[in-house]
Amino acid sequence: MFNLKNKVAVVTGASRGIGKEIAKIYAKAGAHVSCVSRNKDTLNNVVESIVSLGGTASMNAFDVSNFDEFQNNINDIISEYGAIDILVNNAGITIDKLIIRMNEDDWNKVLDINLKGAFNGIKSVTRTMMKARFGRIINISSVVGLTGNSGQANYAASKAGLIGLSKASAKELSSRGITVNCIAPGYIETDMTADMTDENKENLYLQIPLGRIGSPKDIATAALFLASDEAGYITGQTITVDGGMVMN
Ligand SMILES: NC(=O)c1ccc[n+]([C@@H]2O[C@H](COP(=O)([O-])OP(=O)(O)OC[C@H]3O[C@@H](n4cnc5c(N)ncnc54)[C@H](OP(=O)(O)O)[C@@H]3O)[C@@H](O)[C@H]2O)c1
Repeated sequence: MFNLKNKVAVVTGASRGIGKEIAKIYAKAGAHVSCVSRNKDTLNNVVESIVSLGGTASMNAFDVSNFDEFQNNINDIISEYGAIDILVNNAGITIDKLIIRMNEDDWNKVLDINLKGAFNGIKSVTRTMMKARFGRIINISSVVGLTGNSGQANYAASKAGLIGLSKASAKELSSRGITVNCIAPGYIETDMTADMTDENKENLYLQIPLGRIGSPKDIATAALFLASDEAGYITGQTITVDGGMVMN
């Protein structure tokens, strides 16, 4: 399919779920992938599985909500691999509660990782991408950022914020050949959605025109396209990958 040969990609939240699948598909397309999360052991497993399939990957364990850690790790990756061509801001968490029970800490944690984490990433790679006059930045938002969802005020705000952040960055960086886009997944089968009851799943199927819950691969293939040279005329957009649940 799309070729990422000689490209260096950084994928956050690559230790499992959607991020792991994006890391794998990028490596299969020929990129060197730097896998980021907070957990060295799970990252190591991902790197080993990529290498065992003939790809190249490395890992950087840090918390994306910490700007200095993000910048230092990006600088290390640039020193080692010469550039960063692709950044996927995928790391994310949920702390779901109704507003009446949501405290300041619940709000701050989710916004710090999901939204500030992406800003930290974009700011850390901007200089090197501007110099190279090439870059692909992909932020993983959510359909919840478009529609809102009861019990997810913090998460929905962070995901809607990513869409605004992407549009602003797309406008700032377009003259340097850097595109910035969002993917808004619907319901995807990962650890994040694992504790959904069968009854909730059944109700969900009814809202998905394509009649199934998504897989991490459904998101990874969209992320592969947006990272490719072929997607060079697309910027500031949000692509929903949700089985048709939210039609714009
Ligand atoms: N699954 C869905 O239905 C769905 C729908 C819409 C959007 N999304 C979005 O898609 C992205 C991936 O979701 P997923 O379902 O794959 O979730 P997941 O299986 O829970 O994986 C989340 C990933 O983010 C990493 N992470 C969390 N906090 C981090 C931090 N502070 N610093 C660095 N890494 C961190 C986790 O690694 P460690 O815990 O090891 O650090 C893990 O690799 C998220 O942004 C999520 O909001 C998911």
